[in-house]
Amino acid sequence: MSSQKQEAVKRISAPDIRARKGGEPIVCLTAYDAPTAALLDDHCDLLLVGDSVGMVVHGMPNTVGVTLEMMILHGQAVMRGSRRAMVVIDMPFGSYEGGKEQAYQNCARVMKETGAQGVKVESGPTVAETIAYLVQRGIPVMGHVGLRPQAVLTDGAFKAKGRTDEERLRVLSEAEATADAGAFAVVIEGVAEGLAREITLAIDKPTIGIGASSACDGQILVTPDMLGLFDWTPKFVRRYADLRGDIDRAVGAYAADVKARRFPAEVETYFSKKPVTP
Ligand code: KIV
Repeated sequence: MSSQKQEAVKRISAPDIRARKGGEPIVCLTAYDAPTAALLDDHCDLLLVGDSVGMVVHGMPNTVGVTLEMMILHGQAVMRGSRRAMVVIDMPFGSYEGGKEQAYQNCARVMKETGAQGVKVESGPTVAETIAYLVQRGIPVMGHVGLRPQAVLTDGAFKAKGRTDEERLRVLSEAEATADAGAFAVVIEGVAEGLAREITLAIDKPTIGIGASSACDGQILVTPDMLGLFDWTPKFVRRYADLRGDIDRAVGAYAADVKARRFPAEVETYFSKKPVTP
């Protein structure tokens, strides 16, 4: 460790995020590794170690196969890379739906082994009771309503939610139950502007939108999507960079240099101090 005095930086906490309801929009992105987390940290209030890691880092078809161990490993990396943003770890499929006690054991393990400031659970109809149980035991929880990626196998596809009256009322009541159970914030994914606005007005906790319009109290995107790493992104993503193009051009240039023996050049080569005698 450097002998320089380390500047103590206080991390943003669940109460800090909670207090931002209706105030300055909350800036969130996903993060999965230390160097990227270090770059995002200065700009973001909250870094979510999303279970999207299964798809965008590990090449899985959906998030169902993501394990607790994967989330812990990526969570530890993001904690090492960041020092100011609140870090929230997504609880993977199967780690919290089995009952309050299962959820508590797994969430407590994640909090202990990563040092993160909170967890996120997808708040289906039965999860509010679990959220209350976790919060009462000291675990800050962020909910997630609307399109719930972990329900992809029962839903059949990643589909926007709340387009029928029945579905709209269901998503609204899930958001209300999540907030009433004590979640410090609620992610709203893949819903129309009207429903996002209705939820944001109805609950006293900040809403964080992804594909849920500007009506929310904050926004989150999957970082590799907004950096342009993939050839396709959903309609709601704005690409702020073209990493795919940049990487393709950089690797193409490297390959051409290696083949033409232009790399490494003298400047990239070590030489012995004494002439080598054969
Ligand atoms: O896993 C994830 O990245 C998420 C965001 C889409 C909110 O849950």
